Amino acid sequence: MKVKARLIDDGPLVLSGDTVLIDGAGAPYPPAPVISICRCGLSDKKPFCDGSHRVRRFSHQARAPRLDENS
Ligand code: FES
Repeated sequence: MKVKARLIDDGPLVLSGDTVLIDGAGAPYPPAPVISICRCGLSDKKPFCDGSHRVRRFSHQARAPRLDENS
């Protein structure tokens, strides 16, 4: 199964699919079908999003370059 990684505007990186998240010591987190990773740095539950980005009004809209712009 593929893993889908989606950057949410003004929010977390959301991973879905058969994802295994490994901590800094090499231990896996419990599996989950959807994992939201904090991008704002404000979560009290890092590395996971706890919704703090909404309260603090984190702002970042990532946009991938169009593939035809690189050719
Ligand atoms: S992205 Fe949600 S708390 Fe940081």
